[in-house]
Amino acid sequence: MASKQTVHMNRGQGETSYARNSSFQNAEQNRMRPLIEEAVADLLSSSNSSSRSMVITDLGCSSGPNALAIASIAVDAIRRCLGLQRPPPDLFVLLNDLPDNDFATVVKSLAEFKKNNEHVLAGVVPGSFYGRLFTAESLHLVCSSNSLHWLSEAPEDLKMKSIPAYDVDADVRRERRALVVGAYARQFRKDFMLFLQMRAIELVPGGRMVLSLAGRRSVDFASKFTHAWESVAMILCDMVHMGLIDKEKFDSFYIPIYGPSDEELRQIIQEESSFSIRQMQVPELTSGAYSALITPTRVAYMLRAAFEPIIVQHFGSSEGGEGIMDEFVRTAERRWSLEGSLEEELAQNPRGVLLVSLEKKLDIT
Ligand SMILES: C[S@@+](CC[C@H](N)C(=O)[O-])C[C@H]1O[C@@H](n2cnc3c(N)ncnc32)[C@H](O)[C@@H]1O
Repeated sequence: MASKQTVHMNRGQGETSYARNSSFQNAEQNRMRPLIEEAVADLLSSSNSSSRSMVITDLGCSSGPNALAIASIAVDAIRRCLGLQRPPPDLFVLLNDLPDNDFATVVKSLAEFKKNNEHVLAGVVPGSFYGRLFTAESLHLVCSSNSLHWLSEAPEDLKMKSIPAYDVDADVRRERRALVVGAYARQFRKDFMLFLQMRAIELVPGGRMVLSLAGRRSVDFASKFTHAWESVAMILCDMVHMGLIDKEKFDSFYIPIYGPSDEELRQIIQEESSFSIRQMQVPELTSGAYSALITPTRVAYMLRAAFEPIIVQHFGSSEGGEGIMDEFVRTAERRWSLEGSLEEELAQNPRGVLLVSLEKKLDIT
């Protein structure tokens, strides 16, 4: 690949923005509520509870309504947990994302949020969550929704050997699946390990983390597992078959995303050893609030809002800017035009979501 991929969601408030196409992710954030409430209750009842301030961060906040959703859940939980017993501590809410994120919109929403929430101070922290972001032992609660499956980069060994992440030929793809997925799994292990090490430095002893990320149910990646970004690859593959994008270009396109199994995640957390696992859940991707959201157009727009920047960066745009993405949406809608075909495609895939609640061990310095 010529240049480093710049990751961000579609900016602004327009029809194709992340702000208007992130209801799936918001459903996921709502699933984190009980875990955040439990973590907050635990923090407030612990020995640190006499502390007059509490620092909360949401890592990979993006922009739009979801950027403040997790912070709102945490602030509400604190207020409800304390009730009238004692005044709430000063809360410092810090929102993080990569520097190309639409922070201008986030800052405006934060100003509104502060107006409606007495005792809340707020700020943004641009930078990668795979590096240091905060001062040592300064954080009480770290949250992250729908972000940690984004790798720091696509696996270097695949790029160097020009092995496509998703071969257009289904037989070749099947033969290479273990190799490709293995490379992605190694990159995830390296990145997630680093993430845990950084947060172990930044959290206070007993500090909590509540995370949600794309994952999968199966541990058998060689026979069953498909990429967490399979739908994007399938749509682009259809576009190659229709002559809308170049096969060579597609072969060198790597989306830096990996969805681990719960077992993989557990092993990395245990190996890194700074955190104990309080809860880990693997809810069904298509259950609950999700099912109502699954329509071809919604899914196509959701994928566009999340992947347009890296698709356009790699393939270039046509027809004055958005040609390739308009075709992407049309191809997706055509692919799923038969009633039930989208649901069937999703059901065949062992993809899921992982929710995990962690506590920093007390003897880690
Ligand atoms: C799908 S969005 C999730 C946004 C929001 N948390 C939600 O649940 O809707 C993923 C976000 O993670 C951010 N991200 C990806 N890699 C990151 C990294 N290394 N450091 C910080 N943010 C990252 C992306 O820029 C993007 O805004």
